[in-house]
Amino acid sequence: MTRQIDKRPRRLRQNATMRRLTTQVCLDPSDFIAPLFITEGEQVKSPIRSMPGQFQWSIDLVKGKAKQLHELGIPAILLFGVPETKDSEGSGAYAEAGLIQRALREIKEFVPDLLLICDLCLCEYTDHGHCGIINAPGSPQFDAKFPHGYLLNDATLERLERIAVSQAMAGADIVAPSGMIDGMVGAIRGALDRADYSQVGVLSYAVKYASAFYGPFREAAAGAPQFGDRHSHQMDPANVSQIFVESQLDIDEGADFIMIKPALAYLDVIHRLSARHPEIPIVAYNVSGEYAMIKAAAKAGWLDERQAILECLLGIKRAGADILVSYHAEEVCQWL
Ligand code: PBG
Repeated sequence: MTRQIDKRPRRLRQNATMRRLTTQVCLDPSDFIAPLFITEGEQVKSPIRSMPGQFQWSIDLVKGKAKQLHELGIPAILLFGVPETKDSEGSGAYAEAGLIQRALREIKEFVPDLLLICDLCLCEYTDHGHCGIINAPGSPQFDAKFPHGYLLNDATLERLERIAVSQAMAGADIVAPSGMIDGMVGAIRGALDRADYSQVGVLSYAVKYASAFYGPFREAAAGAPQFGDRHSHQMDPANVSQIFVESQLDIDEGADFIMIKPALAYLDVIHRLSARHPEIPIVAYNVSGEYAMIKAAAKAGWLDERQAILECLLGIKRAGADILVSYHAEEVCQWL
């Protein structure tokens, strides 16, 4: 029995072929950046408890993993170092024979066409776990205008410049400053250009919120602050207008990509920035806590893992992200 109904949107959903024809957003391996954690030692593949399916890798083993990801069609990996020793200055972050520098050289040689992106921050290398130089009485950088324990902006910039150049020297294709330090992109761009690394790109964590969803990462990278928090530099989840200031500054300072982080609770931010900046690739970081939530719920049998993962990633892309940093990258590319 046919009734008179003016519009029948279900026509476009009536069978799988029609649905395939009318699909708007697709995931493709070329959308992904896969994060990897590197640790010292040999033959180490150490499971990260809070991120089932993710590991800390020693350099000898991560090379094989990098090759597999490349063969799946993933264009880039994002490297985080989990060094054995740390100090108050985070000097391991720019040591020539530092963990990440060695990893970059070896992976580049083993898989030359895979793009190597390097997280550029001090928090994994400082014994206090902060993303830069901390204002401490007695230290050479002490500045009485700021409270004790405050993250010193300009003293930190000089460190970030050194890290950027050392990562570029070791073979990084793109550096990814993640500290939300004012002026970081301009400082890094200038340092790379002066050192004759103008081909090395900057992927800026332009809009990074002070989020609970980094919890599992801090276990994975052993980079939790030993005191205080990151609220003086990362953004307040209640705010949105600052995203325009942060993103515009980074673009003006020379960022080649801008990243929004986390992704799922900030789809409005992704949407607004992709509309505001059609000139630059928008990257969204589907962070550790977002990954862990799905893994935990799936393990409990509370949702369909595959469908939930694809739905989240499609949602991030639909919101306007061009590129997804996700711990799901490998599994998703195996399904596609
Ligand atoms: C800082 C950094 C963090 C993450 C990426 N880079 C942690 C933080 O800001 O506390 C989090 C990523 C994730 O949760 O997956 N170097």
